[in-house]
Amino acid sequence: MKLNLLVAGILSAVVSLTGCSNEPADTISAQGQFSLKEAFKDKFAIGAAVNELHIADGIESALVAQHYNTLTPENMMKWEEIHPQPDQFSFSRPDALVAFSERQGIQLVGHTLVWHSQTPDWVFYHQDGTRKNRAELLTLMKSHIEAVAGRYKGRVYAWDVVNEAFNEDGTLRQSLWYEIIGDDYLDMAFEYAHEAAPNARLYYNDYNLFKPAKRKGVIELVKRLKSKGIQIDGVGMQAHYALDYPSFDDVEASIEAFSAQGVDVMITELDISVLPFPDDENMGADVGLSIALQDEYNPYTEVLPKEKLDELASRYEALFAIFNRHSDKVGRVTFWGVHDAHSWRNNWPMPGRKDYPLLFGHDKQLKTFATRLPYAG
Ligand code: G3I
Repeated sequence: MKLNLLVAGILSAVVSLTGCSNEPADTISAQGQFSLKEAFKDKFAIGAAVNELHIADGIESALVAQHYNTLTPENMMKWEEIHPQPDQFSFSRPDALVAFSERQGIQLVGHTLVWHSQTPDWVFYHQDGTRKNRAELLTLMKSHIEAVAGRYKGRVYAWDVVNEAFNEDGTLRQSLWYEIIGDDYLDMAFEYAHEAAPNARLYYNDYNLFKPAKRKGVIELVKRLKSKGIQIDGVGMQAHYALDYPSFDDVEASIEAFSAQGVDVMITELDISVLPFPDDENMGADVGLSIALQDEYNPYTEVLPKEKLDELASRYEALFAIFNRHSDKVGRVTFWGVHDAHSWRNNWPMPGRKDYPLLFGHDKQLKTFATRLPYAG
């Protein structure tokens, strides 16, 4: 522990003296030699959610090449984007991302095949407005998974097969998938994904999985799928956190509990908001939540005060101490975005805020504390 901190301190001092420190005190030039993927290479894969900007030439793709060995498409493989109409697919951007990840030797995680959100109405309703029935919806789910996961068979390393199917109390979300097909829609999704991409790793992904009741619901799912011989390889803990939320003891308990089920544990959508949250009842990541902008909830419109940056650093260091301690269970840590300027948290749950949740700032420079994370704990 002391040696790690000494190493971190020396590294940080060296970086500060090597010309990278011509940035403001709280950032290091992204052109520096420090690499997140190299620093974590003996612990877990380190990645980010990306869009088409990150595979074009520019600072974003340079940061991706320097720091990450796994990528997740933030939106381009979601149903509404990749399959917007019954007979229309939009594969050009996903194809480009798959080709980019292959050129860079980066592992790609597909996101996401079955989700209650960002799924067009035509999936669930006939043109006359009546709901499709179980058989019709299962047929459509199967053909979508075959078309998408099948297209990238052997090229996409893993899939978030089902996303956010549980309520906070561990019961199943009353989505149209559930209401029309029934509670075995998850089982069918994993079966279809295995048939379409036999070599891909298959994950269940959700937010707030630190909550004991929600954790329990997912553990029951893992047990059921395994008991039926249906492939499930991992659980994705999204990790959309804040400075004062959640208790990291609960996070650690969930890492241990999911791992005890014999599945990989991934941290799939990590970011730590520094902003006050306007609705304590809905801390999490439900994209359906939207609240009109209020200045009191957007306090750092110019820069992040140093004391808040220090709080953010402490939260990240405490979290990575847990990840490092459980690197035998945690296979991947993916940030939900590369730099603060494009983080979804600038617009959720209040559009138009300025948040600072990631390791690269609005200036696209690495925040200094990031160099300490591989040695935390
Ligand atoms: O592409 C359109 C653009 O043409 C249009 O002009 C613009 C304004 O309406 O919207 C654009 O689409 C937006 C899309 O992001 C791409 O920017 C959607 O409105 C917006 O809803 C969508 O938000 C995404 C959200 O999921 C909903 O899909 C966020 O970027 C993305 O970070 C967020 O990610 C989710 C994970 O998939 C699941 N876990 C929670 C996480 C955070 O909500």
